[in-house]
Amino acid sequence: MSSALTTHLNFFWAGLLKHGQTGGIVPSQRFLIARMIAPVPEAYRGKIIELGAGAGALTLRLAARCPQARILACEINPILARDNRNTLAAAGLDGRVKVLADSAEHVLRELGRGGSERPDFIISGIPLGNLGKEKAGALLDTIRQTLGQGGMYIQFQHSLLDRRKIKARFPNTISTFVALNFPPAFVYYAQKREAVAPGR
Ligand SMILES: C[S@@+](CC[C@H](N)C(=O)[O-])C[C@H]1O[C@@H](n2cnc3c(N)ncnc32)[C@H](O)[C@@H]1O
Repeated sequence: MSSALTTHLNFFWAGLLKHGQTGGIVPSQRFLIARMIAPVPEAYRGKIIELGAGAGALTLRLAARCPQARILACEINPILARDNRNTLAAAGLDGRVKVLADSAEHVLRELGRGGSERPDFIISGIPLGNLGKEKAGALLDTIRQTLGQGGMYIQFQHSLLDRRKIKARFPNTISTFVALNFPPAFVYYAQKREAVAPGR
């Protein structure tokens, strides 16, 4: 069986057996991925964090688009994380990306603790709407804390369920609709800006 087919089957099974966690039965497709990664300049040299990278549909396109960026992708399902690594290796892009089989919450906590360089982009496919109000809120808070000043958090969702939660933390958020994806999706672009004190 081809490795692309195996990867799709693994994602499909994850979607059936762990639906809440996986949030779908097929990986994102090219129009959605293109909209997700569009704000990242091709010449970007800094750090990008991808949360809920799945089998790597977006990771692969991001690594190909931004050859100088340092990309850290995390995926809670170890089978999908392994497929992601294999896909990157087959494309010769594995040297550009670190894929961790770990939860977004843990990876972000560790990054915050290390006092390391902050990412300008956090790109997420995590099914926020399936996390529950408290977990989703806590994850959004951590994303905001981790992101560098002026940085952008990019998230897709198949509804606008969490628009308010995101806007509450990132008032400077816009969303767009991508019809050419199965299922169609909304993409949020949420920019981090500190509130400026009056009179400054
Ligand atoms: C909707 S899929 C998106 C996969 C991929 N980014 C794409 O666009 O095809 C969501 C992924 O997030 C992963 N995930 C869910 N909760 C997570 C968490 N707390 N930390 C890391 N990954 C998580 C799931 O296992 C799943 O692979």
